[in-house]
Amino acid sequence: MTGRKLYLYFFSGTGNAKSVTTWIKNVASDLGYDVSAHDISDRERLLAYHREKGSTIGFISPTHGFNFPPIMLHFLFRFPNGKGQKAFLVNTRGGLKMGKYFLPGLSGMAQYGSALLLLLKGYRIVGMHPIDLPSNWISLHPGLKAKVIRSIFEKRKEETIMFATKILRGKRDLKALRDLVQDVLITPVGILYYFFGRYFLAKSFIASADCNICGQCIKSCPVKAINLVGGRPFWTYKCESCMKCMNHCPERAIETAHGFLTVVIVLVNTFVLYFVYDGLKLGGWLNGSGWLPYVSSIIFDSAVFLLCIFAAYRLMHFLKRFTPFERMATYTSLTRYAFWRRYRPKKHIKKM
Ligand SMILES: Cc1cc2nc3c(=O)[nH]c(=O)nc-3n(C[C@H](O)[C@H](O)[C@H](O)COP(=O)(O)O)c2cc1C
Ligand code: SF4
Ligand code: SF4
Repeated sequence: MTGRKLYLYFFSGTGNAKSVTTWIKNVASDLGYDVSAHDISDRERLLAYHREKGSTIGFISPTHGFNFPPIMLHFLFRFPNGKGQKAFLVNTRGGLKMGKYFLPGLSGMAQYGSALLLLLKGYRIVGMHPIDLPSNWISLHPGLKAKVIRSIFEKRKEETIMFATKILRGKRDLKALRDLVQDVLITPVGILYYFFGRYFLAKSFIASADCNICGQCIKSCPVKAINLVGGRPFWTYKCESCMKCMNHCPERAIETAHGFLTVVIVLVNTFVLYFVYDGLKLGGWLNGSGWLPYVSSIIFDSAVFLLCIFAAYRLMHFLKRFTPFERMATYTSLTRYAFWRRYRPKKHIKKM
């Protein structure tokens, strides 16, 4: 076989995509490939991309908001053109387990959008495969139980090994295309997430009074999204909500501020939008029929919403220096309570 070189480029917030990368790497080594894996958040070391003739290239990343996260999308955009080289894409999704049933996540445009881009860049797509590892989105739901995480990992490790063996032996595996209809249908939500949703989520994290300013979250954030403002961690718009900081804080001091978000959502929907529409006399056109007013009103409402949340987050960060406000923000965060587990897959991978 020609092209026994394999380059794996991965991004991982909480370790799922990293595990998949390791499993593929092991398969490749067993099959005699000269394989290397590169964390794309370590961009300084990736200035020279590897694209030797005949090499195979794999991209592995979590799914965020029905797409690859911006860090991976930007990497793919900047990736140099191929010359007919083989490439494959793996998106780890948020899988769940109910009783004995394994529930899949949703890819949206993660697979088909990125595959199209790579095709346009001259690559030959030999693999498009989602891997449903445990959902790490603990801002949205409590972390899964250790037993469930372990069982999902065992199942998906086998699936990954089968996928890697197949494509590295020269066959194709385009499993992701089976979900194409549902993925295309969910795409508008993915677009809204990319332009608005992720900025909203960036303003959902707070550090409680348990934070001892150790700086670990600031140092380990893959996109350097946390700054010290007023001597305390402050999440900037660069945050991609990868969940790394929240899962690794040694003091378990990082919370998702559910109470704060609820107050902002209610205030914006009941007062702010009403006054803005009324004040700017926009109600008539934006409430009109047809797709243009409909799409425009979504964009307009989202923009107003983002402005409000940015201002409210700043204000809350300032007020949190006063104990009653700090308590209010922290104790109305569901993540504060023990039943809302964190997501620590590394512990479970080691046991396997
Ligand atoms: C902000 C955010 C958005 C997510 N969006 C999706 C999604 O659209 N579809 C999905 O299947 N899983 C989604 N997930 C779950 C993750 O993609 C999944 O748990 C992934 O395996 C995490 O990989 P990592 O540990 O390498 O970061 C989301 C998780 C987060 C934190
Ligand atoms: S890792 Fe935790 S304790 Fe350390 S600075 Fe960040 S929030 Fe504070
Ligand atoms: S701030 Fe936290 S959640 Fe946001 S990108 Fe950095 S590590 Fe991930």
